[in-house]
Order: sequence, then structure tokens, then C-alpha cells
Amino acid sequence: MPKKTISDLPDVTGKRVLIRVDFNVPLDKKTGAITNDRRIRAALPTVQALLDKGAAVIAMSHLGRPKGDPALDANLHMDKVAARFGELLGRPVKKVAGDVIGPDARAAALALKAGEVMLLENLRFDAREQKNDPDFAHAIAALGDVYVNDAFGTCHNDKDASMVAVPATMAGKPRVLGFLVAKELEVIDGLMGSPKRPVMAVMGGAKVSDKVKFIQALLGKVDHLLIGGKMTYTFLKAKGVAVGNMQIADEEVAAAKNLLPHVGTKITLPVDSLCAKSDDLNATQVFEGEIPAGFEGVDIGPKTLAVYSDKIKQAGTVIWNGPVGWFEKPAFSTGTKGIAAAMAASPAVTVVGGGETAEAVEQFGYDARMTHVSTGGGAFLAYVEGKKFASLAQIDET
Ligand code: 3PG
Ligand code: MG
Repeated sequence: MPKKTISDLPDVTGKRVLIRVDFNVPLDKKTGAITNDRRIRAALPTVQALLDKGAAVIAMSHLGRPKGDPALDANLHMDKVAARFGELLGRPVKKVAGDVIGPDARAAALALKAGEVMLLENLRFDAREQKNDPDFAHAIAALGDVYVNDAFGTCHNDKDASMVAVPATMAGKPRVLGFLVAKELEVIDGLMGSPKRPVMAVMGGAKVSDKVKFIQALLGKVDHLLIGGKMTYTFLKAKGVAVGNMQIADEEVAAAKNLLPHVGTKITLPVDSLCAKSDDLNATQVFEGEIPAGFEGVDIGPKTLAVYSDKIKQAGTVIWNGPVGWFEKPAFSTGTKGIAAAMAASPAVTVVGGGETAEAVEQFGYDARMTHVSTGGGAFLAYVEGKKFASLAQIDET
């Protein structure tokens, strides 16, 4: 059943709208500064539309994975996120100090006027958030007349109170999706439902074991799965091919072994790799097949990039998750940049999912030329796998 979105909302003039966003943005490890604000920008159309309709907006999100005492997780306070949110929105965003749902937060929320915005403190500073706690949910739910879920990146978290127990508590009040979640679901549903063929998937990243279910779900849908990144060497090792100095856990090799029957038919492995000397990353060499001791793979090789680019050019749909090399290092970024360029130039429907992949595409300046860049990491993988989300079950149907 289709879900209601903010376009289906009755008049919200003067109402307090509680919106769950995913402002879990990457932070600089040393300074704590926001390194990428894509997730904040992605929620702006929904927030703006609510303000245009005359609502007061109470936004809430988690940030990182705080371990308990907020004093020890100083970088995970929401103040800088609120400041950036305000800058991007072009109006101030209130942020009060103190508990997530303490007296100050409650008073500020209840005093909000039409057109005003506030952001609650990091939801995970309260341990009850991740326990789907009913008391915590009641306290938050009491702040709003309307609930909006625009937090696609967190939709797969079935135990987060702000995603599940809060809207459950608000049954009877309008509970709708924001534009971002609606678009994410529409694009991925289209991708997995009746995609334009042939469908190519490009998969990179390190761990096969984390992605076995995702890969299996994809194999049922795609015509070709092109492998890159560190998982290349896991597959090679599973086939008995030498991978030089690359260390790969046994469980990873076992996971890859289960997929070997598809290698050579649906799954394509790189034909060559850019490798670097383990003791001198500046010394690089391209190898086809076996990788000698002393070296490890750091990117797909030029022949592989040519083959993959050609397949991407001829595709009807391309779905990409996981960088194909160690792209943070410019010398090892050719493959990842090349895949992004090939997708941008292809007439295919192109969808990018996963935080790192989205960041790479953005860093290389190709994001605007993709059909869709998902804000989801784990949520993207889980939704493609076909998992049903408890958070979405709480949203009203049309
Ligand atoms: C994410 O980035 O995956 C979401 O914001 C959810 O965060 P989590 O992985 O810490 O639950
Ligand atoms: Mg996650």
C-alpha cells in the first residue's frame, strides 16, 4: 500500500510537526567538524515545505554512536548540526542544552511558533532511544501534532524509539513520509520491480560476509554483477588464486565460496588490479591473475575499468554500492572515479547507494549526473534485500 506523504497532509498551519531526520553526518575524527552535509541538504525540501505550510518544526536525529555519557562524546552534541541546518535553511534553528527530552527541550518545543524550527539533542544521548522505550516515546510524541519520517538512512533500525515507538504512540494523528523517504522508496522500488534492462550492479567495499544477502537479492534481479574493491581478492582467494600480502579472514573467504558458482556467469571479477608494495605504497604495478607476495591490490586495473565502463555504457540500469578501490588516496582512485564517470555518461538509470560510495561520487563531482544518490548506507542495502521496515509500518496509508 502506498504511504501518505506530506503532500497528503491536512492543513498544518499553527501545528507542531515532529520530523525524524537522519542528520547522522560524517565528522572529522580530530576536530569533530562536519565533513559532508549531504544528509542535511537532503531533508531541506521537506522542512521547507512544512514551514511554507505554516507549521512549527521540531526536528530530531541521532549522531554517531555515543557510548553513554554525553560529556565523553563532546563531538556528538547537535549544536554544530543545528548551526549548519540553520545556515542551509536560511533561518535560525533553536537548540537547547540539556537532556534530549528534559524540561528545557520540552518548554522550547511547546513555545515554538509557526515558521520556527528547533533540533532536539542527539537522540542517542538517551539510552532509551535504541530500546524503543515507550516512556521516552511518549515524552517525545507529546511535543507534536503530526509525525513525519524523512530519515531514510535510519529506516532499517527497528528498535529506535524515534522511528517506531514515537509514531506508534501518535496513532490517530497524521503520520506521513517526507519527500526524501518517499523518493528513496520510489527509486529503489522501481529498481527492484521492473528496471530497464540490462541491469548492471557494481559492488565494491571490503566485506563479502556483510553483503551476501544483498548480493543474493541482487543476483535475482540483475543481468550482471561487476565486482571491485577489496572483495575482489576475497573472491580470488576463494578460487585459489594468490592475492599477495592481502590479509583476508577465513569467514570472508567462506562467504565468497558460496557465491563462486555464479562467478563467470552472472558475477564478473576484475581481470587486472593495480597493486602497491606493502612496504612502499608508492611502488605500484598492475597484475593480471596472481598477485605476487609483497604486493596487495588497491584498485581495479585499466583493462577492468575499460570492460566495466563498456558494460555500464550499454546498460539500461546501473546500481552501484561500494568503492572499487582505495579512492581516498588519489593514486588509487582511478577505478572509482572511472566508474563514476562511466555512470554519469551512460544513458542508463543510475543509482548509487552507501555512504562511502555517495561520498566518492560527490567528491569527484558526478553526483548531479546520477539518477539518484541514496542517503542510505545500511538502509539502502536492507531495502534492496527486500526487508520490511517496522518504521514504515507506522506510517499512514493512502
Ligand atoms: C547510518 O548512517 O547507517 C544511519 O544513520 C544509522 O546509524 P547506525 O548505523 O549507527 O544505526
Ligand atoms: Mg548504519
